[in-house]
Amino acid sequence: MENFAATITSHDTYVEGIPHETFRELRATNPVAWTNEPDGGRGFWSLTKYEDVLYASRHTELFSSRMGIRMEDMDEEETEARRTLMEMDSPEHTRLRRLVSRPFTPRAVHGYEDSVRELAREVLDNLNGANEFDFVKSVARELPMKMLGRLLGLPDEDLDWLVSRGDALIGNTDPEFTDYVVDQTDTSAYRLLPFRSPVALELFEYAQQALEQRRITPTHDVLSALLEPNSEGDRLDDPTLKNFFTLMVAAGNDTTRYSMVAGMQAFIERPELFARLPLMDDAERKALVDEVLRWSSTTMHFRRTVVEDTELRGQQLKKGDKVVLWYVSANFDEDQFNDPFTFQPDRTPNDHVAFGLHSAHLCLGAHLARLELRVMFEEMAKAWSSVEGNGPSERFRSNFINGIKKLPVKVTWR
Ligand code: HEM
Repeated sequence: MENFAATITSHDTYVEGIPHETFRELRATNPVAWTNEPDGGRGFWSLTKYEDVLYASRHTELFSSRMGIRMEDMDEEETEARRTLMEMDSPEHTRLRRLVSRPFTPRAVHGYEDSVRELAREVLDNLNGANEFDFVKSVARELPMKMLGRLLGLPDEDLDWLVSRGDALIGNTDPEFTDYVVDQTDTSAYRLLPFRSPVALELFEYAQQALEQRRITPTHDVLSALLEPNSEGDRLDDPTLKNFFTLMVAAGNDTTRYSMVAGMQAFIERPELFARLPLMDDAERKALVDEVLRWSSTTMHFRRTVVEDTELRGQQLKKGDKVVLWYVSANFDEDQFNDPFTFQPDRTPNDHVAFGLHSAHLCLGAHLARLELRVMFEEMAKAWSSVEGNGPSERFRSNFINGIKKLPVKVTWR
């Protein structure tokens, strides 16, 4: 295959779209593919089959998250300084996950539905009956931001700033979101900070202040809860708290936003689907949300590192090799999904890997994200009788996040 590595690693590729054809060929002819990194990285194995992504996710004793979960190489000092829940293996991971998971369980999230609905209505009300707007900026960016603010107990006036900081981190490959574009500027001075960005310092400082306030006067929010010891008397230290705060701002916002945008795009392309939305029952709307998540595959990959020499489909993987799990390819694997390139709103079963796999690192915010998507789609269907595109959209520059960052739309209010 001609230079597939450049195609799948280049951030610029994804400005045009996901290179599905290249992933399809890799699945068929080279499913465990050694992938050279164009910019001096030491290269990695690309896993593109669903079955192999599942295998690597489940065998954490062979495929570790500790040495980093992004494609980039990081030395020991960098990894240590930037470590969050994501870059841990058990038992360290299990301990922290237990400490932070309470607000994200299905039961806890079920209790947020009224809040999410109230916020979704507020977002739509704030459009003031406008017929034309950018769906990303005016709708999809707003709900996850407001919901995170409510969960963490942060003042409304801080939220826009906070989310712009999160965007600068996750958007560290797109010049629209940051001055510190990792592959275009020298970011070595920030190598010990999340996403090699000084923006992380601003978030750390904000988190520190928010935590100090809650130590003096506890509030009823997730941040106060994180300061409490758990039933075994275990509690989080300050660096862990600040890293977790940054992780939530970065991981909880744009992922949900871009998945919501993918849903809107699906409605624009299929007007009959949007028209049918108010008639669907709960199970049908849940299935629709999962198909949007599969289709969107918003986080396109995560990485692991080989713990001891092993073999996969005849390839010899050596201790220390990087392995990239291409969730975006697994979600379109024709051996797992019937007719994967057809959007099927009623697809069942739909064991997509948009949130990772049912293994240790399965997305902590999966239930919350599903709820936000479903409720927003429901409220959109109540508010609007039709939606259509209104000019060219623009895609995010990233081999990591699949997102439409601008989607001009025209809607008809009921
Ligand atoms: C549609 C929206 C979302 C998508 C597509 C998504 C995707 C993912 C994926 C694929 C992982 C697995 C990482 C790995 O395999 O190493 C993950 C982990 C994680 N996500 Fe999400 N996420 C979303 C929303 C959220 C939200 C709303 C939050 C929090 C408020 C969140 C917080 C986290 C955290 C803390 C982890 C780390 C879990 C661990 O390592 O144990 N995510 N997410």
